[in-house]
Amino acid sequence: MQTIVEDVREGNGAAIAQAAEIIRAGELVAFPTETVYGLGAIGLDGDACAKIYEAKGRPSDNPLIQHVSDRDMVKRVARDIPPMAEKLMAAFMPGPLTLILPRSEAVPDKVTGGLDTVAVRMPENPVARSLIRVADVPIAAPSANRSGRPSPTTAAAVLRDLEGRIPMILNGGPCRYGVESTIVDCTEDVATILRPGAISMEEIRELLGDCRLDAGLVEASAAPKAPGMKYRHYAPKAPLTLFVGEPAAVEQAIEEEAKKIESAGKTVGLLGSRELLLKLSGAVPSACAQNYGHRGDLLTNASRLYACLLAFDGLPVDTILAEGVEEKDLGLAILNRLKKASGGHVVQV
Ligand code: TXA
Ligand code: MG
Repeated sequence: MQTIVEDVREGNGAAIAQAAEIIRAGELVAFPTETVYGLGAIGLDGDACAKIYEAKGRPSDNPLIQHVSDRDMVKRVARDIPPMAEKLMAAFMPGPLTLILPRSEAVPDKVTGGLDTVAVRMPENPVARSLIRVADVPIAAPSANRSGRPSPTTAAAVLRDLEGRIPMILNGGPCRYGVESTIVDCTEDVATILRPGAISMEEIRELLGDCRLDAGLVEASAAPKAPGMKYRHYAPKAPLTLFVGEPAAVEQAIEEEAKKIESAGKTVGLLGSRELLLKLSGAVPSACAQNYGHRGDLLTNASRLYACLLAFDGLPVDTILAEGVEEKDLGLAILNRLKKASGGHVVQV
């Protein structure tokens, strides 16, 4: 199959109309959102959605998010909208937020992983919204990567993973946030974050008065409620160790470890802030560095994270040492993805 890439950075009604046609015909289109690129199919058609699982190599027990363009479409996939979900929708939709709601009968079994709930998201990216509006159906879409790989934040990254496997990619330029949406379970008495993202726990608490983190995010032994969160994810090919703690102590620990690796004749990859990399450039001259932006600039750190992780696959690195960020706001999402990329190799200094 040939994969065509259409540039929609300056709007391109004809390309979006063509993409909507492809979706309505039961085929797949990758499209930009403000979080990461999605791989879409008509959300209420089980056979069309099965093609997503095949193209990605995704386990069939991992349910898909239904993307909608307006509130009426939410009702086509959800049986009921609990009051806390109403409040979250009014405050943060459209935006980088996914709600877990009771599922409507219209949603095919193939995309729910056997659950009685459905994940719903209304993206704010104008290309994503017009695609859903023109197709006039909810669009089921996971991130547009092969399963287990970092999510794509550019059309080029989608092409690298899925060329020849899907008919079309809409190129809307780089994604604004660069990490996937915050998933909030609205089916229990207290709103529960199943996956941290750009809408922070602090913001949700302020709105609802209460919000907790899923036990699967806090305790290593607890099973996560979002099925996809149990898989190793976001991983570059070389092993990665994450360092967390006070910046000065982290710098020192990474420098010591990097020198050890270098003196063993291996090549170290460094992933971190501009500040860290400047500090270490003299001490570990052979390192391959990926800069995720200024320390504390969490939006830039998030938006560059996956591109940095993917870049290591093209570099001759044996092992990667990564600097963590502060555990607040978007930092929670960044740390969650880095922990997953490390497969649990986290050094607290
Ligand atoms: O930002 C995003 O959410 C992106 C863009 C494309 O919208 N999408 C995305 O989809 O990240 P995906 O499939 O890569 O991740 C969806 C996550 C998975 O961990 C899945 O298990 C979880 O959502 N999920 C889906 N339906 C669920 C449900 N009913 N209950 C709990 N978790 C669910
Ligand atoms: Mg994904």
